[in-house]
Amino acid sequence: MPVVAVVNRKGGSGKSTFAAHVAAWCARQNLRVMLGDIDRQQSSRGWLRRRDPSLPGIAPWVLDQKNVLRVPSGITHVVLDTPGGLHGFELARIVMFADAIVIPVCPSVFDRESAAACLAELMTLPRVAKGQCRVATVGMRVDGRTNAAEMLRTWATEHDVPMVGMLRETQLYVRSLERGLTIFDLPAHQAAADLEQWKPVLEWLRPVLHPVAAAETRPRDSLLSAHRGSGTLAGARMLNEIRRP
Ligand SMILES: Nc1ncnc2c1ncn2[C@@H]1O[C@H](COP(=O)(O)OP(=O)(O)O)[C@@H](O)[C@H]1O
Ligand SMILES: [Mg+2]
Repeated sequence: MPVVAVVNRKGGSGKSTFAAHVAAWCARQNLRVMLGDIDRQQSSRGWLRRRDPSLPGIAPWVLDQKNVLRVPSGITHVVLDTPGGLHGFELARIVMFADAIVIPVCPSVFDRESAAACLAELMTLPRVAKGQCRVATVGMRVDGRTNAAEMLRTWATEHDVPMVGMLRETQLYVRSLERGLTIFDLPAHQAAADLEQWKPVLEWLRPVLHPVAAAETRPRDSLLSAHRGSGTLAGARMLNEIRRP
C-alpha cells in the first residue's frame, strides 16, 4: 500500500493544501485513497467533511473499538497530512511506513532554514538513507520565474534533494479548500495554469503511487530489489498501530 506523507516542521508551509491535492488527484485516478490527518488541528479532516459526497471519494481514518486509528478496508493508497514541529520519534515513526515524503517549502529564508533542518533529520533515518523512502521538495507559493524561485532551486541543489515542482500563490487554492474542493475538482479551464504546475509533481509521484506498474518497466534485477526493498507491507501494519493524537 503506497503511503505518501507531507512533512515540514514549519506551520503554514502548505502541508494540508498539498496533502488534500494529492489525495484528490488519487481519487480522480479511481484509486481508493485515504487522507489521514496526524495534525491535531485536523485541517484535512475538516476539509474532508466539507467535501461534496458526489465528488470522487476520499476516506478518513476509521476509529476501532480500541480507539486505534485504522486504514479502512479496501483502501489501496494513503496520504498523510502531518503537524508542524514534527521531529524525533514521531517523524521517525512516519518514515517507517512512508514510501515518499514531500516537503512543501515556501521561499523565505526562514522557511528554507526550517526545511533544511527537517531534511537533515530525515537523512539520518535509515529508510531515507537507503532510498526506501524517497524525499522530494515542492516550492510553495512561489512564481517559478522569479529570483525567489531561483534561490529555492539553488537551495534544493545545495541540499541534494529534488525540487519536483513549484506551485504559485493563488486564491484558487484558498477558495477551493474552503469549499471542500481542490483545483483538480474545478473545471480544467479555471485552473489550467495551476494544473500545468502540478504535472511534474504528479510525474514524480507516479512510481510511488503505482509501484508495480513502474517496476514492470524496469529491468528484472531492479524489479527484484524494488520488491525486496519496498516497505509498503510493513507500512500497512504500522499504520494500524497509529493511535489517536
Ligand atoms: N499556493 C497557495 N496559494 C495561496 N495560498 C496558499 C497556497 N498554499 C497554501 N495556501 C494557504 O496558506 C495557508 C497555510 O496552508 P496550509 O496548507 O494550511 O499549511 P500547513 O498545513 O503547512 O500549516 C492556508 O490558508 C492555505 O489556504
Ligand atoms: Mg496543516
